Amino acid sequence: MQRPYVIDQMISAKAIAARVEGLAREISTRFAGTDKLVVVGLLRGSFIFIADLVREIDLPIEVDFLEVSSYGDSTESSREVRVLKDLRGEIAGRDVLVVEDIVDTGFTLTHVLKLLATRDPNCVEACVLLDKPSRREVPIRATWTGFEIPDEFVVGYGIDYAQRNRNLPYIGKVRFT
Ligand code: PRP
Repeated sequence: MQRPYVIDQMISAKAIAARVEGLAREISTRFAGTDKLVVVGLLRGSFIFIADLVREIDLPIEVDFLEVSSYGDSTESSREVRVLKDLRGEIAGRDVLVVEDIVDTGFTLTHVLKLLATRDPNCVEACVLLDKPSRREVPIRATWTGFEIPDEFVVGYGIDYAQRNRNLPYIGKVRFT
């Protein structure tokens, strides 16, 4: 049984769209001239962010997905990152952009960047929508960050609480009642 809660809007759909456009512009500039970019979404949380981001990137990219999980249905990180579904494609010699919804303790992104670096890519960078720097246990920072947020339990725009609320078009914070 979940504790009863309400969701208060924290970042509007409009503010997200404007930031996503800005991130995509910077990414397009950084990777201009390459036809080797593979954008890798971390499932499941990044599915909406990557869908919006790639539509604003003006380059000949490929898209792939990696499914990892460290939280399951819990609100506490297990600190053990499990690869549930690997990439379909090879990334040797490719420019790789990992797209993630949120960095909290940092275990997930650190693990994924290390894993992909073992496959001889040309480079691996990360773009995250949300960053909670106050929660960090592993020192990691993405090349691109959409918003730094305080230590609130957030949902929406792909992010869940016990698998619910991923479909909210905005980022909200969970307030237990
Ligand atoms: C969430 C989120 C990030 C990770 C961030 O994933 O999507 O991948 O936790 O936390 P960390 O920095 O403390 O590692 P989750 O395991 O809930 O899977 P999901 O993406 O399928 O929701």
